[in-house]
Amino acid sequence: MKLWGGRFTKPTNELVDEYTSSIRFDQKLAKYDVKGSLAHVAMLKKCDIIPAEDAEQITEGLKKVLSKIEAGEAELSEADEDIHMNVERLLIEEIGPVGGKLHTGRSRNDQVALDMRLYAREAVSELIVLVKSVQQALIGQAKANIDVIMPGYTHLQRAQPVLFAHHMMAYVFMFQRDVERLEDSLKRVNKSPLGAGALAGTTFPIDRAFVAEQLDFDGICENSLDAVSDRDFVVEFLSNGSLIGTHLSRLCEELVQWSSAEFNFVELDDSYTTGSSMMPQKKNPDVAELVRGKTGRLYGNLIGMLTTLKGLPLAYNKDMQEDKEGMFDSHETLKGALQLFAGMIASMEVNKESMYKAVSNDYSNATDLADYLVNKGLTFRESHAVVGQVVLNCIQSSKYLLDLSLAEFKQYSDVVEEDIFEALKPETVVNARAAAGGTAKNSVLDQIEKAEQLLESSDVNKV
Ligand code: ARG
Repeated sequence: MKLWGGRFTKPTNELVDEYTSSIRFDQKLAKYDVKGSLAHVAMLKKCDIIPAEDAEQITEGLKKVLSKIEAGEAELSEADEDIHMNVERLLIEEIGPVGGKLHTGRSRNDQVALDMRLYAREAVSELIVLVKSVQQALIGQAKANIDVIMPGYTHLQRAQPVLFAHHMMAYVFMFQRDVERLEDSLKRVNKSPLGAGALAGTTFPIDRAFVAEQLDFDGICENSLDAVSDRDFVVEFLSNGSLIGTHLSRLCEELVQWSSAEFNFVELDDSYTTGSSMMPQKKNPDVAELVRGKTGRLYGNLIGMLTTLKGLPLAYNKDMQEDKEGMFDSHETLKGALQLFAGMIASMEVNKESMYKAVSNDYSNATDLADYLVNKGLTFRESHAVVGQVVLNCIQSSKYLLDLSLAEFKQYSDVVEEDIFEALKPETVVNARAAAGGTAKNSVLDQIEKAEQLLESSDVNKV
């Protein structure tokens, strides 16, 4: 007999049980479900809705049920549909019919909303810590390689030299926004829906604020219909996770390129790469590729959830059971990726010589020649045209700008002097970009200091 079997004259079709039950995946919520029930029963006792001795029995029973579930000793059944009804049945098996008092003043609709919020709160806090560990690894590389110069690209064409540390710090700041988004989402996640009942509230004299306090929520969801219908926090989690995935994936792509023989800018540690079953010489950046690939499922989970919610009438609809697998999957996917990334970035070797060779054998100091001419009196447009000519002729004669003699420079513009050779060196070019946010060493050191302060001051230390 099902917990809700009273008004039915026939058992459910087996396929229906199989299709509609969620216990396969929502057993992950067991600890949150029991935690919520413990707070609920404490409130029922405090408000004299059930006798104190019943509440105590239920409390003890719930703890036993959870330890049995966690030890794999409890039998979870599909016929009991979901974690909420499985826990209730196990409780009744454990302590007898008094267990039936637990569900007073509560519905599975507010219960499941509560469980998901407790799960989300923990998942968000965990991801914040993990994103930060990736930021730390990136900052570590920036500091260890503070003088390394590499080509900066636009359109994947060498554009202007930058410090490798500057490139690392770009990712640190994008991950910082991810951390801030996650932190901000906690304000909305951390509200208690319990007490909303099925949709309209409850006739029992409950104390929602007490439950919220017990569970460390910042307050309650103000409207019972909204409380049971809202899965915005799931969408936000999936959306924030998708952006983390986007950022990771861009970094993955760069690592894949940089570790190729064509670039040879970095070497990923052996422990973070894999071999080929056929080609003995291969060392593949599989982790970076797979993290890039898994961005697809992060986006898929987000679009899936948005689509599920679109057009749903208030309040709870069974469709909403679809919130779980995507949320769990995105959480696990991100957790795995971030854990690997922290170690992979920290152990990566930076090939300073290859990068320097790449900046020396290109025309990425052309803007600096143009700026030089502007400082000597040409307009930027005139100067751009002159430098275009210089570069074209250099390409035709297989030379770089620093291969030209002063006399050759003077053929293009007689304002050029001996100091041009210093002005076009990669180090000078980099350090000339000294304004805030630029790639000059001092500016990058400022960025590192700022980022370290941000990481320190973050709310995560409080969660
Ligand atoms: N397993 C359900 C879910 O995940 C729990 C809520 C069910 N509520 C209901 N009235 N059928 O959404």
